[in-house]
Amino acid sequence: MTSGWSLFVIILTIANILACVWLLRWTSKPRTASEKIGGGADTGHVWDKDLREYNNPLPKWWLWLFYITVVFGLLYLVFYPGLGNFAGVGGWTQAGQYEQERATVEARAAALLAPLAVLPVAELVNNEQAMSAAHNLFQQNCAQCHGSDGGGAVGFPNLRDANWQWGSDADSVVATIAGGRVAAMPPWAAVIGEPGVEDVVAYVQTLGGQQADAAKAAAGQVHFQTLCSACHGMAGKGNPLLGAPDLTDDAWLYGGDAAAIKQTVMAGRNGQMPAWGDKLGEQRVKLLAAYVTKLAAGK
Ligand code: HEC
Ligand code: HEC
Repeated sequence: MTSGWSLFVIILTIANILACVWLLRWTSKPRTASEKIGGGADTGHVWDKDLREYNNPLPKWWLWLFYITVVFGLLYLVFYPGLGNFAGVGGWTQAGQYEQERATVEARAAALLAPLAVLPVAELVNNEQAMSAAHNLFQQNCAQCHGSDGGGAVGFPNLRDANWQWGSDADSVVATIAGGRVAAMPPWAAVIGEPGVEDVVAYVQTLGGQQADAAKAAAGQVHFQTLCSACHGMAGKGNPLLGAPDLTDDAWLYGGDAAAIKQTVMAGRNGQMPAWGDKLGEQRVKLLAAYVTKLAAGK
């Protein structure tokens, strides 16, 4: 807020409070005898023939309650931020309170996580307390991409099956979650042209046990061995170091019909798993690694 606006807010606020005080004093001023109850002076409002509205001062106790709220308001404005840019003498801020509450929660979580995080992933898998904490972490951070049950979607891997693109051992899974992964499947349309891609797609289909044109597949196999085997392996079994998927199973990240495979090979794919190490910390990452390991084992 500029100081001009700040001054405007301060003046407006103080003027309002003063106006309240003035109003209270005005309503409490003694009435003339003729204005008092029964004196005959009323507001002229009559209901049900004989129910009249008089114009009497407010009861004293009621007035005092109002004065107390005025005093409370003034004290509040002295101690807390409220008067324009004036921060209040109490030094309270919303962000400060948030930070303080967060620190308390963090400390409590750390106390809970510390004894768990010294356990190896293989043991965490069987630890009920760890898995229930990890379940919550997964729902908060991972479910939007991998599904609340870890079942995945097109482009987002299913974490419930035994197929691991980036490796299934504890170290690899921790590395995947902590550091994230960026897959680099190059586009091939410009290299072998659409007919070449169609041949290689036929071969990839046969790798996965699907029916495909035998002549095309044979031509595709030649391309595969020169262009694709460096990453996917001679037998198409994949390479977890590169995140190159096994093409011989029937698990497909981007779809396993001819059209989807063709799209993948023509244009390439660059799936990105975000990095969580900095955001969640080592302990939580380890719990999550155990959680997805357990999911994949079908437990
Ligand atoms: C530089 C390494 C590399 C080369 C070379 C490569 N790939 Fe890939 N491929 C990958 C990676 C990494 C992925 C995973 C992409 C992702 O997760 O986004 C992938 C994904 C795929 C997929 C998708 C699998 C699925 O589950 O949906 C197919 C199909 C595929 N590659 C076929 C091929 C074919 C055919 C060739 C040769 C023409 C080839 N790749 C060459 C690295 C490579
Ligand atoms: C923004 C979407 C997104 C979020 C959020 C996300 N992931 Fe992923 N994750 C992906 C994508 C995309 C891949 C596949 C990357 C690739 O193509 O290789 C992936 C891959 C993975 C893999 C590797 C699977 C394998 O087969 O090797 C694991 C494990 C994983 N994620 C766990 C998690 C966990 C745990 C969280 C929560 C902390 C999480 N992911 C949050 C998008 C996401």
